[in-house]
Amino acid sequence: MWDELNRLRDEDKDRRIMDLFERDEGRADGYSVETGDLRFDYSKTLIDEAVRAALIDLCDQIDLGGRRDAMFAGAAINETEGRAVLHTALRNLDGGPVLVDGQDVMPGVLDMLARMRAFAEDVRQGVFAGAGGAITDVVNIGIGGSDLGPAMATLALAPYHDGPACHFVSNVDGAHIADVLGSLDPTRTLVIVASKTFTTIETMTNARTARAWMSDGGGDPGQQFAAVSTALDKTNAFGIPPERVFGFEDWVGGRYSVWGPIGLPVMLAIGPQAFDAFLRGGQAMDLHFRSAEWIENMPVLLALTGLWHHQICGYPTRAVLPYDQRLSRLPAYFQQLEMESNGKSVAMNGSALTVPSGPVVWGEPGTNGQHAFYQLIHQGTGIVPCEFMVAAEGHEPDLAHHHRLLVANCLAQSEALMRGRTLDEARALMAAGGMTGDELERQARHRVFAGNRPSTTLVYPQLTPFVLGQIIALYEHRVFVEGVILGINSFDQWGVELGKELATSLAPIVDGDQSADGKDGSTAALVDFVLKHRS
Ligand code: F6P
Repeated sequence: MWDELNRLRDEDKDRRIMDLFERDEGRADGYSVETGDLRFDYSKTLIDEAVRAALIDLCDQIDLGGRRDAMFAGAAINETEGRAVLHTALRNLDGGPVLVDGQDVMPGVLDMLARMRAFAEDVRQGVFAGAGGAITDVVNIGIGGSDLGPAMATLALAPYHDGPACHFVSNVDGAHIADVLGSLDPTRTLVIVASKTFTTIETMTNARTARAWMSDGGGDPGQQFAAVSTALDKTNAFGIPPERVFGFEDWVGGRYSVWGPIGLPVMLAIGPQAFDAFLRGGQAMDLHFRSAEWIENMPVLLALTGLWHHQICGYPTRAVLPYDQRLSRLPAYFQQLEMESNGKSVAMNGSALTVPSGPVVWGEPGTNGQHAFYQLIHQGTGIVPCEFMVAAEGHEPDLAHHHRLLVANCLAQSEALMRGRTLDEARALMAAGGMTGDELERQARHRVFAGNRPSTTLVYPQLTPFVLGQIIALYEHRVFVEGVILGINSFDQWGVELGKELATSLAPIVDGDQSADGKDGSTAALVDFVLKHRS
């Protein structure tokens, strides 16, 4: 299945992206696709017609359409956990019924959404209050998918905030909760304990700490705690009354859950109407993914570009570079989405994967990254495919000149990566600066840029709730397509279990209640050091 692509990669090792533009005047449009408010440009890559045809052929060979339709239809495509995968139902605002085991899940989804809206409005309008008055602050306690999605989206949509301030505590490190709670009024804070399983040790430890903080400070945990979970028996046992428990089903994966009750902090911050627009952005991307031909299908093209770069060309990482300060948590969010979904070495049928699994995903917002790690991206020996994203305009009309500079920087980076600078150009630069002879030659070499480095760019008019919804759903479907082509289950995460089990067995040892006998020498010595050095 990969032979033709490997052959195309090896066929002409000297191909230049710039040459592809020279050969095809319509390349920019021919290798860009638009849907809703997004334009995705993958023309600054070495993908040409033959490569694209071979990539698209993969989709047909593995019946991508059939797998996609099975997901949307509620089939149990998460085979290792025997579950459907239906985060798309959470944004199916006016689509038809969605059946799981013959039962339409949409009435339940819409009922829960209505409950979230009612609660959010009550909190926002001060109808729901704490012991000391209207709620001023919301603290979401969760980790992984129960944190990254709402934390990322709340920050991304800051210009739409007109509700209480939202804070996020995820790390079991006491520093995190101490720093967040330190400045808050326990009598006017709402705590949301967000955990799909309601067993995650970090979240439950933080939840108990927050409960003690609230009662010690005169707040009322019986009133000021809410929960988001699939485990209603456990939320009940924790003491959160059913009217403030927002449940969801096991067919919503943690890292795909921001669209439902896990998104409650976002709704509290921006209001139900703006949250609806976010859902509609996701829904618009679903409709596009379900109906567009592969060659015009944005998530498919994004996925195929990633597969070309990682599985075929062998570039080990992928940088996500949003030129948007408010998307500063997006790289971390995509990191979980991609690496927890596709970081697997066993195929769905139990056999070992014969191609590399998903890449390392990392990134920072521009322009900050330019002054930190872009040096390696431009001149390092390895190639890092870059995924740039930028809005045509910002939310600060008085600072429009800032935004123009931001856009110019974003476009300059992808141009520089593609174009590079030849030795002759570098020599001319040095000569123009008055340098001559051996010194010119030596200095010029340091100023050469190989160029021909691939990047994609996603542009949109402005970072609105609708646009954010489109972007998140775009990347979700991209991860799905990659997983289908690799033949893996993108919806389980067994790889996190072993560490959790060992942490549980180490806790009493680190507490000093059990000996480290039986642990390896390194672990035992590290425990010994910790025990000796704490008061
Ligand atoms: O340990 C990984 C994980 O299960 C993630 O998949 C999940 O998002 C996170 O932990 C939090 O899980 P929960 O929502 O059940 O607390």
